[in-house]
Amino acid sequence: MTKKREKILVTSALPYANGALHLGHFAGAYLPGDIYSRYQRLLGKDVVYVCGSDEHGASITIRAKKEGISPKEIIDKYHNLNKESFQNIGMSFDIYHRTSEQLHHETAKEFFLKLDKDGDQFEIIESEQYYDKEFDQFLADRYIKGTCPKCSYEEAYGDQCENCGSDLSPLELINPLSTLSGKNPELKKTKHWFFKLNNHAEWLKDWIENGQFENKKVHNPQNWKSHVKGQCLAWLDDLKPRAITRDLSWGIPVPLDNAEGKVFYVWFDAPIGYISATKQWAINNDKNWEDYWKGEDSKLIHFVGKDNIVFHCIIFPAMLKAYGEYNLPFNVPANQFLNFEGRKFSKSKGWGIELHQYLIDFKDFQNKEDAIRYALIRNMPENKDSDFKWDEFIDFHDNELVANLGNFINRVLVLSHKYFDGVVPQVSVEGKVALEKVLPIISEYQTEIEGFNFRKAIIKFLEISSFGNTYLQDCSPWVIYKSDPESQQVKDCLYVCNQIVCLLSTLAEPFIPFSSKKIRKLLNLGEVKNGDLNIVLEQLKNQNSLLKSGHQIAKPELLFAKIRDPKDDSRIKIIEQQKAKLAEIIAFEKPIQEPIKETITYEDFIKMDIRTGTILKAEKIEKTDKLLKLIVDLGMEKRTVVSGIAKYYEPNKVIGQQVLVLANLAPRKLRGIESQGMILMAENEKGELCFASPIKNFGNGWVVK
Ligand code: 2FM
Ligand code: ZN
Repeated sequence: MTKKREKILVTSALPYANGALHLGHFAGAYLPGDIYSRYQRLLGKDVVYVCGSDEHGASITIRAKKEGISPKEIIDKYHNLNKESFQNIGMSFDIYHRTSEQLHHETAKEFFLKLDKDGDQFEIIESEQYYDKEFDQFLADRYIKGTCPKCSYEEAYGDQCENCGSDLSPLELINPLSTLSGKNPELKKTKHWFFKLNNHAEWLKDWIENGQFENKKVHNPQNWKSHVKGQCLAWLDDLKPRAITRDLSWGIPVPLDNAEGKVFYVWFDAPIGYISATKQWAINNDKNWEDYWKGEDSKLIHFVGKDNIVFHCIIFPAMLKAYGEYNLPFNVPANQFLNFEGRKFSKSKGWGIELHQYLIDFKDFQNKEDAIRYALIRNMPENKDSDFKWDEFIDFHDNELVANLGNFINRVLVLSHKYFDGVVPQVSVEGKVALEKVLPIISEYQTEIEGFNFRKAIIKFLEISSFGNTYLQDCSPWVIYKSDPESQQVKDCLYVCNQIVCLLSTLAEPFIPFSSKKIRKLLNLGEVKNGDLNIVLEQLKNQNSLLKSGHQIAKPELLFAKIRDPKDDSRIKIIEQQKAKLAEIIAFEKPIQEPIKETITYEDFIKMDIRTGTILKAEKIEKTDKLLKLIVDLGMEKRTVVSGIAKYYEPNKVIGQQVLVLANLAPRKLRGIESQGMILMAENEKGELCFASPIKNFGNGWVVK
C-alpha cells in the first residue's frame, strides 16, 4: 500500500484588484508562498497553492467612481495585469481565482447563512454613520478626515490620527470631511451584522499561545514567528464584535430578507475566497476540496504581510471555528514590510517599482526574474522591515549569482567539455566521499525553509555552491591534467562537481526556478519534478550518482551576466535609469530655486535706491484679483505703488506694514494708475509672495545699502 501523501494547502493574500502589485507586496506575501510551495512539492507533498484577486471593498467602488468607469472594468484590468505579472515572475499558483466569480459568491453566502443559523454568532446593531450625499455612500472610516480631538492635527483619519497615533472613531473627529467629495458628511442611521468575535477570545488564546485546540495539540507555537504571536496577543486582550456588512452597491449581497442594500464587508468574504479558489481548483482537477480544508492529514499555511495578521490569525480562524469542520491555520508566517531605497512604497509619489513595470524595464536583462527573486529573498522582511536598494541588488547579483553560482557551474561545464567531451567521468570509491560534506548543508537548508527562514536558507544554498568552488580550486584539475590527462583525481573531481551542479539545480528550484530550469538544460536533464528532492537525498546518502558516469551534458552557456561589466554597460544602464527616476522624484520635492543671476558690480548695485517705507493705505484695484493700490510713506514723500500682492495679502492687513521700496524705478502705468516705485518681495517655489522688510520698525526713508 502506498503511503498517503501529506496535504499542504498554501495561500497567499488575495491582492485587491484595484492596483498593480509592487515589489514590496511580492516580497511580503507572494514570493515566500511560492518558495514554500515549490519546496514542499520537491519533497513530494500534495501541495495546493491558491491565490486570486480580492475584488470587493469600498476602495474599488471609489476608484471606479473617481475614474468614471464601472467597478467591473477596474477589477478586470487589474486582475489580468496582476495575474500576468505573477505568471511572468514565476509564481506557481495552482489556481489564481477571483472573488467576483459566482462560485465565490455562493460559497460566501452559504458560509454566512450557516453562521447566521447558529443564532449566537451575529448580532444586529443600529448606529449612526457618516454618509456622503454627493457620492450617495456611507463612508468607511478611512474616507473621513478631520481635526484630531487629541492633538488638533487637521488631517486625522476616521480611524486613527497619524500625528499622535491615537485610535479614533469617525464621530470623534472635529470638522469631519468626506475624502470623496471634500464636503461635511451627514449622520445617517443604519444597521449592521456584527460577528461576535469577543465570544471566541478564550479558545483563540489557547490555540495561538499553546497550539491547543479542542484538547488536541494542533501546532507548535514555537514555530510561529514572535512578531505574529505578539500582534495576536495584543488583539486578544480587547476583542469586540466586528461589523461584517456594509452599505454598498458593490460586493456580495447579504442573503437575508431584512438586509436589503447590504453587502458583506470585504474582509468577511475575502478569506472565504481561499475556499472558493480551492473548490474551483478541485473541479478543474477532479479532486475533493474538502480533503484539503477539513482532512486530518492536511495543513493550512497562510502567507501574508503584517497588516493582514489579525484577519488570518484571529478573525478568519474564528469564522472557521464558528462554521465547524474546518482545520485552523497551521502557521501564518507573516512578513513585515519592505521599504524601497529608504522610504515606504508610494504609488502616488511614484516611489518604488511595480512588478509589471520591472518586467518591462528589465526585458533585456538576462535572467531578470531570478535576479529580482534572489535579491528579494536575500533581503526578505521576515522578522523586521527591510529596505530594497538597487546597489544591493547589483551586489547580490554580481557577487553571488554571477561570481559564485554562475561561475562554479560554468567552470564545471567548461572543464567537463575540455577534458571529457562533456561526458560525466567514472569515479573511484574514495573519489565520491567528498560529496558527503554537502549533506549537513542540505539538512540546514531544509531546516531553514521549513522554519520559514528563507534568507538563511538561500545562504545555505549558496554555501553549497561555495563548497563546490573551493573543492574545485583545491583539486585544481587543470594542474594535474597537464602532467597526467588520465589521472583518476581529475575524473573524481569533475564527477563530484557535476553531482554538485545537479544538486544545485534541484535546491535552486524553490528560489530561482528559471535558473534551475536552465541548469537542468545545461546538464541535459528535464525539469525538476515533484518528489525530486527525496530522490536526490536518497541517492546522496547511498553514494549513488545524481548524474551517472557516462551521462552527456550540453554545451556551456552563461547563466548570468555581470551588471558591473566594463565591456558591456547595457545592464548597469538599466539600473541607472531606475536610479534616475528616483533622483527626479527627489529633485521635484526640493524647492526649485532660480539660479543666481549674472554678476554685477558695486556700481550697478548702488544705482538702485532702496528705501524703508510704511504702507499707509491699501485698496483693491477693480477687475483684477492680483493688484493692490498702495500709498507708501517714504519719509520725505508719499508714493503710489501698484503691487501684485492681492492674492497673498488682504488690503486691511497690510496697513502699517514696513516695507522696502525701490524708489528710483521709472514710473509706469498699471491699470491706468501710475506706479511710482516697487515694493520688494520674496517669492517661494509655489509663487507665493512675502514682504521683504526690516525686522524692526526702522522709520521711513532710510537707505538700504
Ligand atoms: O490586503 C490586501 O491586499 C487584501 N486584499 C488581502 C486579502 S487576504 C484574504 F483574506 F483574502
Ligand atoms: Zn492626534
